[in-house]
Amino acid sequence: MQIRRLTADDATAYRALRLRGLREHPDAFTSSVEEDETLPLDASARRLRSEAQTFWGALDGDGMLLGIVGLDRETRAKNRHKATVVGMYVAPEAAGRGCGCALLEALVACARQEGLELLVLTVTEGNGAAAALYERCGFRSFGIEPRAIQVDGVAYGKNHMYLDLRQSE
Ligand SMILES: CC(C)(COP(=O)(O)OP(=O)(O)OC[C@H]1O[C@@H](n2cnc3c(N)ncnc32)[C@H](O)[C@@H]1OP(=O)(O)O)[C@@H](O)C(=O)NCCC(=O)NCCS
Repeated sequence: MQIRRLTADDATAYRALRLRGLREHPDAFTSSVEEDETLPLDASARRLRSEAQTFWGALDGDGMLLGIVGLDRETRAKNRHKATVVGMYVAPEAAGRGCGCALLEALVACARQEGLELLVLTVTEGNGAAAALYERCGFRSFGIEPRAIQVDGVAYGKNHMYLDLRQSE
């Protein structure tokens, strides 16, 4: 599996994999497939071209995109030491082979190189696989936001996690 940064040229594959993740795991993401599939391909291209965001992909030997994750930077003077990990998804046929971890390692290395000090993310309560992945990569929980999202009328809390890049290696 190759891990590399995605560019606007990857928009079609990125959009397809993201929509698959949103469709297969409605509880895991704040975005919904119903809203995102109405967005044009150009919205994905713009996202991949944005200076505030960077995305990485995990690709198999045939160049098939099977995993994605993004870094969403803050831009204001008071919080631009911080960025959010967004849109982590690994297709089931590639899961359990270290893709999620490798994607996060690429993201964390880039964040460190840029001088970012703090990474934050949220995981839906009950998503044990994702929480275990983040903990394995050094993230720690700092609280649960009750009823953070509602999916088909059911409310789910969100576990807020952080990684202090000044302390961890
Ligand atoms: C969560 C997810 C990204 C994990 O990706 P992955 O490529 O399978 O993860 P890895 O193989 O790199 O596993 C790394 C660690 O994560 C944890 N983990 C991964 N899958 C797990 C599972 N099914 N159960 C428990 N722990 C799991 C383990 O700690 C694992 O380390 P180990 O192999 O040494 O035990 C993937 O299952 C996924 O996309 N899930 C659906 C979408 C989602 O929940 N996204 C996260 C939104 S916050």
